[in-house]
Amino acid sequence: MPTPAVTAEGLEKRYGEVRALAGVDLTVDEGSLVGVLGPNGAGKTTAVRILATLLRPDAGRATVAGHDVMTEPDAVRAAIGLTGQYAAVDENLTGRENLELVGALLHLGRRAAKDRAGELLGAFALDDAGDRPARTYSGGMRRRLDLAASLVGRPAVLFLDEPTTGLDPASRIALWEVVEGLRRDGTTILLTTQYLEEADRLADRIAVIDGGRVIAEGTSTELKDRLGEDVVDLRIVDAARTPEAIGLLRELAAADPRVDAATGRITLPVHHGAGILAEVVRRIDGAGLEVAELSLHRPSLDDVFLALTGRSAEAAEAAREVAAPPRRGLFGRRRGAAATANVEPVPAVTTEVTA
Ligand SMILES: Nc1ncnc2c1ncn2[C@@H]1O[C@H](COP(=O)(O)OP(=O)(O)O)[C@@H](O)[C@H]1O
Ligand SMILES: [Mg+2]
Repeated sequence: MPTPAVTAEGLEKRYGEVRALAGVDLTVDEGSLVGVLGPNGAGKTTAVRILATLLRPDAGRATVAGHDVMTEPDAVRAAIGLTGQYAAVDENLTGRENLELVGALLHLGRRAAKDRAGELLGAFALDDAGDRPARTYSGGMRRRLDLAASLVGRPAVLFLDEPTTGLDPASRIALWEVVEGLRRDGTTILLTTQYLEEADRLADRIAVIDGGRVIAEGTSTELKDRLGEDVVDLRIVDAARTPEAIGLLRELAAADPRVDAATGRITLPVHHGAGILAEVVRRIDGAGLEVAELSLHRPSLDDVFLALTGRSAEAAEAAREVAAPPRRGLFGRRRGAAATANVEPVPAVTTEVTA
């Protein structure tokens, strides 16, 4: 039996009217990487903050590295690393100085702190930039420095809260490689993400979270078996004949086809998409139907959501935002964004509902 490094049972958390966590159960086995996949507002950061002892749950239990997060927070803190924990990566210090400072805070001793900083700069491809002030770093470099800072104390368990949100594709891939290296070296990792592709690539197991609950859990293959590895999107010119098209295509689908009532777009989860595409076209043509749009793509978080909940991730997010209007702090800034453990605010993924 694998040893669990992280366990959560029935975690609940309310913020006033908002039920951020409605009973989260989760296990991360030692040395594995679990991806917590969910849209904005699903409860990912709240769960991570509870596991990292930064927030007390209203109900439920959790352990990290064998220690109870509520009764043994110091032991938990000694075992973990959290990205964004030192969100105050000091802009005016160099990358090296930032890492040495974390080492000093952890009482590593001068020599050991220096060595560890050098080692991490090398491992994260920051040696060239190591002696430049952090304010000159790109977003991707900053994220790597933040991750490096969380590793100074060689944590057994690492929490990565949306580590690649807002990064450009090249930086995202570079960060994935770093995370894969950590996983290979035996670090237990809990990573939250909004990207199915990211969970797919990195995670041994994926927990899909929505509305403060885990709504599906399994390996990427298990989830895809429920979903199909590919998705065909299709729109018929004569919208009135959409049901007829669905009738023709249903037996090609890996799961129930869905129709977006507003656009008439048919979404067909399939296995072996490339092979099936030709058959889709044959059947549609054969019935004298005209195609307005046809595409084949890998399932996105939105497709997973559609398959699991019957509504899109965007709709889930919008529903939550309406229930809990964006919180504004001083000067009208979103407080929620600052509370997440990301290093940079990421406006690209924030859906504002204008009332
Ligand atoms: N400090 C807070 N005060 C009030 N509501 C909050 C606070 N933090 C989070 N929430 C709400 O709790 C829910 C879950 O948030 P969060 O855990 O940040 O989700 P995620 O990280 O998945 O985007 C959201 O509806 C969010 O608006
Ligand atoms: Mg978050």
